Amino acid sequence: MLLHKGTNSIETRRLLLRKFEKNDAKDMFHNWAGDIEVCKYLSWGPHKNIGVTQMRIDSWINQYDYEDTYIWAIEYKNVNQAIGSISVEMNDDRTLSCEIGYCLSKEYWNRGIMTEALRVVMHYLHYEIGYEKIVAKHDILNPASGKVMQKAGMEFEKVLYQTSRRRDGTLCDCAVYAKKNWDEG
Ligand SMILES: CC(C)(COP(=O)(O)OP(=O)(O)OC[C@H]1O[C@@H](n2cnc3c(N)ncnc32)[C@H](O)[C@@H]1OP(=O)(O)O)[C@@H](O)C(=O)NCCC(=O)NCCS
Repeated sequence: MLLHKGTNSIETRRLLLRKFEKNDAKDMFHNWAGDIEVCKYLSWGPHKNIGVTQMRIDSWINQYDYEDTYIWAIEYKNVNQAIGSISVEMNDDRTLSCEIGYCLSKEYWNRGIMTEALRVVMHYLHYEIGYEKIVAKHDILNPASGKVMQKAGMEFEKVLYQTSRRRDGTLCDCAVYAKKNWDEG
């Protein structure tokens, strides 16, 4: 059984994962949500203006009323600024499984930041909440995301062929990874 606790703060060496706050909109828009390159392989975005980002954040803040909401802002401790997000995008309480999505400001890519965040989020979702299977998916044209999944301890499961349409109209093959073996912690 799951014991939902909501989006509690989690700290790592370099990061503070915490709930989004109303005044994160400027950082979110400038650091990632308004950046066409960050959003290239995502189903949404880029946001056209800060107003769109503010609406997104306001709706997440409302969702925090529900204890099965897991949406963290990734704050880089050195700069006290939200530089990305990591969240549970889908969950199924019957099968004790959930799917995670994430994105990060381009300025911080390739420093192991998302791997650090994904590891602690998976740990929290399994050991604190009780999820047995944690899934993540990436466009096969976006191998850096698959690398994050591997480095965080997920295993490759399958490719879903032509499972969605990219915003440029082309069909997207998606690689699926999952963590379901917890023996090694
Ligand atoms: C994908 C993303 C989250 C990665 O975050 P990150 O903090 O840079 O990830 P890490 O530094 O922990 O790991 C990235 C790894 O990918 C590797 N990598 C980067 N570009 C790559 C490429 N084109 N092909 C293969 N590997 C690549 C890096 O070398 C690194 O591996 P290493 O540590 O073995 O050297 C970030 O690039 C991002 O936000 N992208 C835009 C949004 C997005 O794609 N989200 C995921 C949707 S599924």
